[in-house]
Amino acid sequence: MKIILLGPPGAGKGTQAALLVEKYSIPQISTGDMLRTAVQAQSPMGIEAKKHMDAGGLVPDSVVVGIVRERLQNDDCQKGFILDGFPRTRPQADSLKQVLKELGQELDSVISLQVDIDALVERLTGRRTCVDCGKGFHLRFDPPAQDGTCRFCGGELSQRDDDREETIRNRMKVYQQQTAPLEDYYREEGLLVTVDGMGEILKVHRAIIEALQDC
Ligand code: AP5
Ligand code: MG
Repeated sequence: MKIILLGPPGAGKGTQAALLVEKYSIPQISTGDMLRTAVQAQSPMGIEAKKHMDAGGLVPDSVVVGIVRERLQNDDCQKGFILDGFPRTRPQADSLKQVLKELGQELDSVISLQVDIDALVERLTGRRTCVDCGKGFHLRFDPPAQDGTCRFCGGELSQRDDDREETIRNRMKVYQQQTAPLEDYYREEGLLVTVDGMGEILKVHRAIIEALQDC
């Protein structure tokens, strides 16, 4: 199963990708997570990426395409993968097409999660992530343990730097301008499936599974 999860910041791409990893035993490829790892490691690429991420803008296409190109060549991607947060621009989508062609692979489906703007802001401001195991939570919709630690490993929780209100607003604007047009791009390719992302996490998961059964 080779899938793209498309959707604005807070749509639930990471949450749904984690459930699909369990269901299909294929890896999640999150460019956001990979970039945050590079930021934490303070690699030259991470230092450069952080400037764009903190402002809510996009990291240059050549950087992210390079990361994804390398990742897709790993053995664990042969059976399938879930792209989370990539592609985000038309040049990235064109590059992905080229990379997959070189690898002799084809996409099965592009799932676009539809979520109201008010819900997106609430989801992003309430999001917390475990600093140890990386599991994501929401203070209201998917609460951590009662003492505010990770429900799975007891680790400390943190809030993402780009989940501040002003950065969120810019991320939304960038999404509308640069990423939303990819819906038409993949519709024309006959790959786009829109899924209502407004329900509970498991309800959205079931809707995605149903959509994937038809492809
Ligand atoms: P990235 O990390 O990809 O961020 P994003 O696209 O803005 O999306 P988020 O991760 O914020 O949201 P999500 O859809 O994963 O939602 P989640 O499941 O966590 O990218 C970050 C930055 O990196 C970018 O701004 C850019 O600078 C750079 N970057 C990354 N990729 C790039 C690329 N390809 N090109 C250039 N630059 C790139 O859910 C959010 C919260 O809601 C959670 O708390 C969750 O528990 C909760 N939740 C989820 N689903 C539900 C539900 N159904 N009901 C209630 N709550 C829910
Ligand atoms: Mg995410």
